[in-house]
Amino acid sequence: MAFCVIGYSLIQLVGEYLFTQRTRDDQRIADDLAKDCGGYLVAFDAQGLYDAVTQGALEGQTRVLVLDRLCTVQMDSESRLNGRRFITAEIENVLEGADSDYGFYDTGGGSRWFRAALSGFSGASAMTGLYASAITNASGSLSGVLVYISGVQEIYESLRDIQLKILAWLLIVATAVMLVNALVLRTITRPIGELNTGIARMSQGDLSARVVVRGNNEFASLAKAFNSMSERLEQLDKSRSQFVSNASHELKTPLSTMKILIETLMYQDPMDPGMTKEFLTDVNKEIDRLNRIVSDLLTLVNIDSGMKMNLADLDVGALLMEQVKRLAPLARENGIELDCAVKEPLEVNGDTLKLQQVLYNIIDNAIKYTPRGGEVHCTLNRAGRKAVIRVADSGVGIPEEDLPHIFDRFYRVDKARSRETGGTGLGLSIVKQFVLLHGGTIDAKSTLGKGTTFTIELPLSGKKQEE
Ligand SMILES: Nc1ncnc2c1ncn2[C@@H]1O[C@H](COP(=O)(O)OP(=O)(O)O)[C@@H](O)[C@H]1O
Ligand SMILES: [Mg+2]
Repeated sequence: MAFCVIGYSLIQLVGEYLFTQRTRDDQRIADDLAKDCGGYLVAFDAQGLYDAVTQGALEGQTRVLVLDRLCTVQMDSESRLNGRRFITAEIENVLEGADSDYGFYDTGGGSRWFRAALSGFSGASAMTGLYASAITNASGSLSGVLVYISGVQEIYESLRDIQLKILAWLLIVATAVMLVNALVLRTITRPIGELNTGIARMSQGDLSARVVVRGNNEFASLAKAFNSMSERLEQLDKSRSQFVSNASHELKTPLSTMKILIETLMYQDPMDPGMTKEFLTDVNKEIDRLNRIVSDLLTLVNIDSGMKMNLADLDVGALLMEQVKRLAPLARENGIELDCAVKEPLEVNGDTLKLQQVLYNIIDNAIKYTPRGGEVHCTLNRAGRKAVIRVADSGVGIPEEDLPHIFDRFYRVDKARSRETGGTGLGLSIVKQFVLLHGGTIDAKSTLGKGTTFTIELPLSGKKQEE
């Protein structure tokens, strides 16, 4: 559209320019001729007039007529209209007082006499310009009209030429624009379409949906983001179903054991009281186990649904010593040396119950996974704006390939041993979540057969940080 408007205005402009230029030139020639002829007309110098007129009509390219005030042709450069009347609107205008006037005629159309009058001058349907200029005598009064006729067909033709050229360019550019447009649209719509399909597949539950990453533009990074998002969702979905199946399995084990124990009690008739008591003690143990699993699961569910924190500034050193004291009997029972070294009192903004559980679980693990005669050392130090708690044991250690997984839910290196010591495999995942809730980090280093060190870093409370 813009191109059409530009093309049209361009043709208009060029045409106007060409016509103005031409009209001005032709009118000047007509005016000059009128001046020359004026003298001859006054002097009745027919020969002079004839010479001027034939000279003015450039080599038959143009035609010159000299009319008197009654519009009778006094002199025709082609000597065909002499003595006849010749009148047009422009001539009338000049007779009525205008200095000059001009108009354009299609010699192919118009009245027959006009066509006949100008025949032989230029081809049929050729455009012609007619210039009328007043011939005045010395006193300034009108003595005749000079008519200068000149073909303007070539202007029309060059204009048509320009028109065709512009049209051709318009077509070429429009095609190019359309092609580029189609290409650009393809590069835009195709990735969007693919992304759309991917999203639709995902919303229908197919989390394996991925899109092809092409090129290196914004669409490519969008595709990459989509892929990594769906990958994460897929992982999350997998780990969730894994968790559910693990949880069911963990709950089933004590239930099956209990069922066997109770069935034996029911069908073994009669049973001696000592045996019955032993069976019931075992059932009770399984119930305790179920209880532990369920309460650990509840804790995890609570963490997942955004746990409330009862924050307060508390002394981590005191907290650590308290848990060491709580576990001292267990350590003694297992023949393990347990000690605790707190260098300076450090304050952390935290939830007492949760931090207690964190420390208890870590020290409890250290004792449980250390053979008789081993050692467990707990220390508290300050590193910059952090309180660093270390629990180092001389126990069985953790194989390198298991180390990255020990914080996963239900992950146990040695299932039999963990179950024997009453573990649920959820302890460390709860610990990790609690530490993260406090803005801290937890890390484990271990050498198989030599021991394990857990390091917990917690940010010091605001008061301490300012010092
Ligand atoms: N101090 C440690 N020494 C050796 N292994 C450990 C230690 N702490 C944890 N682990 C390993 O990490 C696993 C996960 O620990 P945790 O989540 O507390 O479960 P569990 O209920 O078995 O104690 C344990 O089963 C054990 O294999
Ligand atoms: Mg544990």
